[in-house]
Amino acid sequence: MIRLEGLTRRFNGRTAVDGLTFRVREGEIFGLLGPNGAGKTTTVRMLCCLIRPSEGRAFVGGYEVGREAMKIREIVGLLPESPGLYGELSAYRNLDFYARLYGVPKQRREENIERFLKMMDLWDRRNDPVGSFSKGMQQKIAIARSMVHDPKVLFLDEPTAALAPDSAKVVRDFILELKHEKRTIFICTHNLYEAERICDRVAIINTKLITLGSPSQLQREFGSGKTEVQIKNLGSRILHAVKKVKGVLKVEVSGNKLLIQSKDPETVNPRVVEAIVKNGGKILYVTRGAHGLEEAYLKLVGKNEV
Ligand SMILES: Nc1ncnc2c1ncn2[C@@H]1O[C@H](COP(=O)(O)OP(=O)(O)OP(=O)(O)O)[C@@H](O)[C@H]1O
Ligand SMILES: [Mg+2]
Repeated sequence: MIRLEGLTRRFNGRTAVDGLTFRVREGEIFGLLGPNGAGKTTTVRMLCCLIRPSEGRAFVGGYEVGREAMKIREIVGLLPESPGLYGELSAYRNLDFYARLYGVPKQRREENIERFLKMMDLWDRRNDPVGSFSKGMQQKIAIARSMVHDPKVLFLDEPTAALAPDSAKVVRDFILELKHEKRTIFICTHNLYEAERICDRVAIINTKLITLGSPSQLQREFGSGKTEVQIKNLGSRILHAVKKVKGVLKVEVSGNKLLIQSKDPETVNPRVVEAIVKNGGKILYVTRGAHGLEEAYLKLVGKNEV
């Protein structure tokens, strides 16, 4: 659905995006991760035809970026980095204005605006001027606005950055619902927990592409393989038994939790659990230690610092 071929952008001789090549599949939630200034927003702006690539090519829905900008604008929705709404217009009017710009017929316009405002929990506030809304509420209106013309591809630049946890969940659920409608969603985010939860695949960039894969692939490949086991009756006998399990590299104790490092957790963890149970341990929880994707991200970005 989206294809980048050596996509590059320079600003005054400085390279912001350098030779990105990858594909985003139809119906996929794709995350673009990377440090501040890595070129995420610049990439999105090129794909939405707001700025031209300096080199390379890209295609969205089969149309070429730059050459077929009008066609691309018809099929994409964009939540930009800053919402840019009309403060004096009501929430409803803001959405209506955009839907009209896109030539959405009246009935469809009304249906879409109602549906998206309700999904964002802002239907009750539809007649209030957007300038009187909080930052997070404005962000949710901007997300609804990016959808009013039913785009097949949605670009969301940090959709949950300004949101409280409950609103962030509303937005995540919204994104997942759009996925079920077979839309393709491209998200820039700094929230690795969110990326881990909703993205089918992620690319980590730092001007250049560092890596690409599903969150669990990246965790397996680049994480440290830590597992946390919480045990009701943790004692020295259990600790000793776990340390002796084949493949266990290191064991740390914190309260009634063990943080176990091993080379291949999927092979070693069943043995660890068996050893704990055999020694009378009552296991409360077994979870991935630390934040898997965060660990992989920090390792990769740190290594590739420019
Ligand atoms: N219009 C512009 N003129 C000059 N330089 C620009 C322009 N837009 C972006 N840049 C530069 O391009 C680089 C990448 O910026 P970009 O906004 O794409 O990063 P980002 O990955 O979105 O960062 P953040 O996570 O902070 O949003 C930065 O060095 C930035 O200064
Ligand atoms: Mg950005």
